[in-house]
Amino acid sequence: MAALPILMLHGGAGAMRTLEGRDERAYRDSLRLACRLGSELLVEGSSALEAAVQAVVTMEDSGNFNAGLGSCLNFDGEIEMDAAVMRGSDRAFGGVAAIRQVANPVVAACQVMEQTRHCLLGAEGATRFAKAQGLTLRSDFPSQSRRLAWRRKREAVTAGGALEAGGLAAMGGVLGIQGSAGQDADSSDTVGAVAMDADGSLACAVSTGGLWLKQAGRIGDSPLPGAGLWAVDGEGVAVATGTGEMILRSLLCKEVVDRMHHGASRACALGMTHLEALFGPGVAGVIAIDPSGMPGFALNTRGMGRAVWRLGMERPAVAIWPEEGWDETIAEVSGAPG
Ligand code: GLY
Repeated sequence: MAALPILMLHGGAGAMRTLEGRDERAYRDSLRLACRLGSELLVEGSSALEAAVQAVVTMEDSGNFNAGLGSCLNFDGEIEMDAAVMRGSDRAFGGVAAIRQVANPVVAACQVMEQTRHCLLGAEGATRFAKAQGLTLRSDFPSQSRRLAWRRKREAVTAGGALEAGGLAAMGGVLGIQGSAGQDADSSDTVGAVAMDADGSLACAVSTGGLWLKQAGRIGDSPLPGAGLWAVDGEGVAVATGTGEMILRSLLCKEVVDRMHHGASRACALGMTHLEALFGPGVAGVIAIDPSGMPGFALNTRGMGRAVWRLGMERPAVAIWPEEGWDETIAEVSGAPG
């Protein structure tokens, strides 16, 4: 079925406090670049999966997001990353969890999907597999700025006695990672992309460093089908960002795709209502594409960096704040494929 190719991505949902100390324009440029590089593949006739992966690889390499080079550190000061991909045409799925050293965990997830008979590899086994596949390793992370941030956050936790008071939940106030009390999660900066190619096939890709000061071995929603991502041709595709524990307990992306007969925007809003009824505001964001190729998003955090491009648009549209919609931009180019 001929379709208008479309690519949408996000760079994380949260309070966007991380934007305060850095250039918002540079952040927007990073989102736009990732969307442009992914969309160029769609123009060349590549698959939705290739475009989504390219967008995520670009964000992993930028250092501006909590994925790849910019990943946050766990409590022990180590980087452990989660990533996954899903292809809608055959429900092919590949993921890696708590993987270390690898520059592009999303590429490792693709390799799991294409080179093994499994769906998900974790920790040491995932890292060993990625090395055996010859994937690029990084000797330059954590970066100095991430190491400094880790030290600051860890000192704040230790000074507050939060660990003695009850682990992760008690650390929420100090770290800004819990949203159930109505307080926005700090920008998780997890990255994700959803795409539809010229054949009308859907795919998605996700990558994250997880949560700051997470317990070693913690795995979030990002590599879990139905929670952090879901794609089925003819039904829809969605990826999520935010506090993984709530996203996986609400199976957010499956809930969104199950409601896709309402259209992508409404499905995202209904999925978010479902999550918010369970866990309150300040938890997550989601982006999606419905089978007609229309995009949607919803968030219950203060912001979510996102970008979208559809065939016919000169360049990707970028937004961060909830009221910055892009429906008009998309409607302008939503005619039948030529
Ligand atoms: N949503 C990313 C994580 O919680 O790991």
